[in-house]
Amino acid sequence: MTKSIFDKLKLKNIVLIFVLILGISCDKNDSIIISSPSEINNFVLKINEGKILYSVYQGNKKVISQSQLGIKFKNGVSLTNNFKLLSATDKVFDETWEQPWGENKFIRNNYTESIVSFQSNDNFNYKTDIIVRVYDDGVAFRYNVKKLANINEVVITDEITEFNIAKNAKSWWIKAYDPNRYEQLYNKSTISEIDTVHTPLTMRFDDETHISIHEASLSNYSSMQIVGTGSKKLHCDLAPWSNGDKVRTTIPFKTPWRTIKITNNAKDLISSNITINSNPPNKLDDVSWIKPSKYIGIWWGMIIGKWTWEEGFRHGATVERSKKYIDFASKNGFDEVLVEGISAGFTGLFPGDTVTTSYTKTTPDFDLFEVQNYAQKKGVSLQAYHETSASTLNYMAQIEDAFSLMKEVGMQKAKIGHVGARMDKVEYHYGQHAVNYYRKVLEIASKYNVAVNFHEPIKDTGERRTYPNMLTREGARGMEYNAWGNGGNPVDHTTILPFTRMLESPMDFTPGIFDLLYENLDFDSKDEIPVKITLIDKGNGYTNIRYKGGESFWQTKPMSMEYKVEDNDTTYIWSITEMMKPGQWDWGIAAHDIESDNNNVWLLELLNLENRSINISKSGKVYGDIKLTIPNQGFDLKNKFRASVNDLKEVGSNVFGKTQRVNTTLAKQLAYYVVLYSPMQMASDFIENYKDQPGLQFIKDVPVDWEISNVLNANIGEYVSIVRKDKNSSDWYLGSITNKVSRDFDFSLDFLEPNKEYIATIYKDGENADWENNPKDLLIEKIKVKSNTTLSLKLASGGGVAVRFNYIE
Ligand code: NOJ
Repeated sequence: MTKSIFDKLKLKNIVLIFVLILGISCDKNDSIIISSPSEINNFVLKINEGKILYSVYQGNKKVISQSQLGIKFKNGVSLTNNFKLLSATDKVFDETWEQPWGENKFIRNNYTESIVSFQSNDNFNYKTDIIVRVYDDGVAFRYNVKKLANINEVVITDEITEFNIAKNAKSWWIKAYDPNRYEQLYNKSTISEIDTVHTPLTMRFDDETHISIHEASLSNYSSMQIVGTGSKKLHCDLAPWSNGDKVRTTIPFKTPWRTIKITNNAKDLISSNITINSNPPNKLDDVSWIKPSKYIGIWWGMIIGKWTWEEGFRHGATVERSKKYIDFASKNGFDEVLVEGISAGFTGLFPGDTVTTSYTKTTPDFDLFEVQNYAQKKGVSLQAYHETSASTLNYMAQIEDAFSLMKEVGMQKAKIGHVGARMDKVEYHYGQHAVNYYRKVLEIASKYNVAVNFHEPIKDTGERRTYPNMLTREGARGMEYNAWGNGGNPVDHTTILPFTRMLESPMDFTPGIFDLLYENLDFDSKDEIPVKITLIDKGNGYTNIRYKGGESFWQTKPMSMEYKVEDNDTTYIWSITEMMKPGQWDWGIAAHDIESDNNNVWLLELLNLENRSINISKSGKVYGDIKLTIPNQGFDLKNKFRASVNDLKEVGSNVFGKTQRVNTTLAKQLAYYVVLYSPMQMASDFIENYKDQPGLQFIKDVPVDWEISNVLNANIGEYVSIVRKDKNSSDWYLGSITNKVSRDFDFSLDFLEPNKEYIATIYKDGENADWENNPKDLLIEKIKVKSNTTLSLKLASGGGVAVRFNYIE
């Protein structure tokens, strides 16, 4: 209800307050205050010298100081000045709706809405509404542009929506316009230090107020990024088309909702449903076919560089291996098997100008009908994989045929990838072209009863409410980053995701790597032979030299070092013994150049050399470059690198660099299945790595569809603990993860049904576990608990805990 703010907020700076009744216009100092149903949050809208301004309060506390609203169009038309307020409506809305699948079966949508109408104070009669919804845990507002003189088609050049944050809050952010789209590590800084960043942009005030700016119902518009200005005032930025247009649309149009979640702690941020609530209800008639699922896949092998997507002697997707995976899935209760790399015409993840991938024809060595038939007989299904290489043109030309083939063979899930820096080589993955493309795919998929898992997606703005076949997506650094690059995801990465990228947004993180140190990569290497690769550094003193080898993706591995000091000159001899199969292999060397502090210098480039190449014959003979010598390049590194025996010892143990591995304990991998919500959850490791692993039982048991989810405790970047109730039984599951700090938690089990007994199976870090030195130490314990039990659990450094509470009938 629209109320005077005087009593509640004692605001001094608002001179004149009118409680507006429909149709009453106000003078230039008029303010409209819209309060949330329980009068927790207040949205103040006013006109000042023709400009539309808003501010937001939680109780007496200012959260957003006066900020301007407006839109600019091509040809000089703008909705920024010269406005008068025409009218305002208000209503309280309260509904509880049922999700077909999700973290919670029921979602309450309760807000006060005001449609505030403005008109330009001139002969043009530009007309726009600002539609405001104020929730007890935040606000949402959008523009409804109704009339721009007689103009019909418009190009938006700028949306000047400001977010003038009341405090120089701490924030967690990733940079926008990076070729890696959303796949970056989070930065932490005050908001006055942020770059142009993606949303959700999450912040914390010193008094523990948490806010997160995002958008909802992003449709036929380009996505909103947030621009830092070196102050507390942030601006909306719209991702441009390649010619600079921001949005191409027609009058009338509504912008997406601009949403600001406001809570008193981190855990309530996770529980807020403003994004999903700000989307239109389900548009699909029948949703009974949309089923959350658990899956395994022929995947990690390609990611880690052992197998290839392309045909060849290391092709991952063989019929034989697919059947082996299907057998494993069937035996262990997985619903689907993802088999990547079966498309005819696929020329690599980063093809040239033309993408030739087919989504209906397979490589000659794969028979889709045979394998899917085999799967169905075993009670599972293949999951389709459509890697578009970001060519929407090639994909859209085939999409109906591709989905109709899926329908014909009974496949209901498609993982659709968009690897590439730009869509169709020119457009951003979050510009209007891409927004419309992703939406179109969902619409078409729904006609064929196909549910979608987007990789390299547009960010989630709650589309799943309208299109429940929008099951999950990637859109952040997932597990795969542990296979590449420099040391993988840091230990705290997944303690940030739930408060940023994953706010109300499922993620196909693909947890479940058990071979955390990649000790078992050669499990099927009957015909591999050891090849010793040596690098001789004649005194440059590079540190943390790493071997990079492989094919589709380059695997990085630490090398070990010995050194020789002769006549004051030091020679460093780095080596690694790699298991290689017959064939032709490329390799290279990356180093840490301490002078520039660059940990990933490609040494071959510095030496004007190509990648090294090795040929291994079928009989195991090795030909080619197995040794590389780098002459002394005369760098003066003496001050930075003293070749004292102690320093060299340190280098030898790789203290300067990070090695490739998964930076968690095993228990934390299991906890991910509860903490990192996704209605499609993968067990991502090679199936061989689940053999004789008692932890697999948790993955088999854990549901993918929930009735209730509650956050027990949370602190961004430090820890988060979540309990969820299975939708199809009375069982509960708990997942808790921590950063590098080992923690003791006492969990009250008051969420369990009173006076009932449960068997708690606890998968926890062993006594001596820690992510760095002893990650695989997993302890499994079974105890009886009740709702009045307090469960004391210890999480190791970089560790976690996963618990199943099995209801005893
Ligand atoms: C990156 C995706 O995240 C991964 O899951 C996929 O396997 C590769 N691209 C290949 O398409």
